Amino acid sequence: MRIAVCPGSFDPITNGHLDIIERACGLFDRVIVLVADNADKHCWFSTERRKALIERATAGMPQVTVDVCDGLLADYLKKCGGCAIVKGLRALSDFEYEFQMALANRKLCPEAETVFLTTCTEHMYISSSLVRQIGSFGGDISAFVPPAILADVQAGILETKERQQ
Ligand code: COA
Repeated sequence: MRIAVCPGSFDPITNGHLDIIERACGLFDRVIVLVADNADKHCWFSTERRKALIERATAGMPQVTVDVCDGLLADYLKKCGGCAIVKGLRALSDFEYEFQMALANRKLCPEAETVFLTTCTEHMYISSSLVRQIGSFGGDISAFVPPAILADVQAGILETKERQQ
């Protein structure tokens, strides 16, 4: 059983993330989408809400499970027996940060490889913060977010914006 972990903050999950998860399903027997926090980011959606949104967005993918992690990714990989970390690369600007993470994770968990998948061109400019920014001004985010969660993402963005004001 070859298990891959797709980690990210998913604040919220976008079509770009979903594309990477779908393609990881073609390479591995089981894919765990792992909601983890980047210490430098303050998330708009709670961990549980991010997990629930991913569960709905991946409902048609039987190989996928969703989990949360509040510790080190390397420790999670050891615990679940994962052999790979799968990440999407959108542009050269992603590379330096991802390269550093990959090296650190290899040191902490040599059993797992980091596998980079190139984002397809139609998703390369999408990011969760772009979705939040457009949504917070009432813009149309339907091209960036899976249809099954569109209404909830839009509502969540507006709720957070109201709380912040
Ligand atoms: N398509 C579109 N957008 C994508 C994408 C894709 N395929 N892949 C990533 N992105 C975007 C995300 O939306 C996000 O956008 P934002 O900056 O606007 O929020 C950005 O790229 C980065 O996203 P992500 O890959 O989720 O990275 P992150 O920095 O938010 O999270 C963790 C990184 C959570 C995986 C990392 O911090 C981690 O592993 N934390 C756990 C603790 C740990 O082990 N730390 C040490 C690691 S060495």
